[in-house]
Amino acid sequence: MAPSAPQTEMTLVELGKMIYGTVCSACHGFEKANNPAAPSFASLRTVKERLTQQQVLELLETGRNQMPSFATFSAPEKRAVAAFLFEETGAGRISLKDLKLSWAQEIPFVATGHHEFRDPDGFPANKRPWGTLTAIDLDRGAIRWQTPLGTYRALEAKGMPHTGTFNIGGPLVTAGGLAFIGAAMDERFHAFDKATGKLLWEFQMDAGGYATPATYAIDGRQYVIIAAGGGGKPETKPGNAYYCFALAGDK
Ligand code: HEC
Repeated sequence: MAPSAPQTEMTLVELGKMIYGTVCSACHGFEKANNPAAPSFASLRTVKERLTQQQVLELLETGRNQMPSFATFSAPEKRAVAAFLFEETGAGRISLKDLKLSWAQEIPFVATGHHEFRDPDGFPANKRPWGTLTAIDLDRGAIRWQTPLGTYRALEAKGMPHTGTFNIGGPLVTAGGLAFIGAAMDERFHAFDKATGKLLWEFQMDAGGYATPATYAIDGRQYVIIAAGGGGKPETKPGNAYYCFALAGDK
């Protein structure tokens, strides 16, 4: 978040940037060409090569599929966003008081994207563990066990125990009492003992498994599979593989 510094005068592009940061950047990203959290959303960096300003203004009016309509924007607000996207130059300063804006003047802060608080070496600045897997006893509303989930390979190489990392992706618990989860930035597939939280097994994948695993059985043999697509909010490298494992001892 950054103060939007309410002003009485700004250029159309500045006003557009403020509006973009407040409403559009959540989906379309801000500084980067694509929003790492939603890489499938179109990058608006190059929109001027694809669309005319008129088409953008119409899209803001109507919306399309997952793109909401912004028909509630006043005409100057829509124009300002378009001016920002098309990187208009040479425009003079405009007086906000003379414009009939629907809300843009009122906004005290704008979102500047998804930021992490890191130390100078690039690791999270808060106290470890930096990510955990937690088993909760729903009957008692109590934590059964909690264990760090994942590690940084650079820190592991220095002999540090698992630190946990930012994680995104759910676990799968088998009837046999194993909890499988990818989720961590170490790009590994982990298996924990459901009863104790002990890490039983890890497999180093080529990319992060930020998806929830699935399980199925064929001819009495049980398999666990996870999509390792990488990328996303953890911003580790992208991948395009499924990793599938047969559970030993079955059949
Ligand atoms: C809730 C998420 C979301 C928000 C917020 C959002 N958009 Fe979008 N936007 C989308 C999606 C999804 C698409 C692709 C629509 C489709 O399926 O055609 C899109 C498409 C677009 C396109 C067309 C891109 C192209 O290459 O054709 C433009 C331009 C655009 N958005 C501008 C904006 C602006 C300006 C704002 C802020 C006022 C905004 N969007 C806010 C989700 C969003």
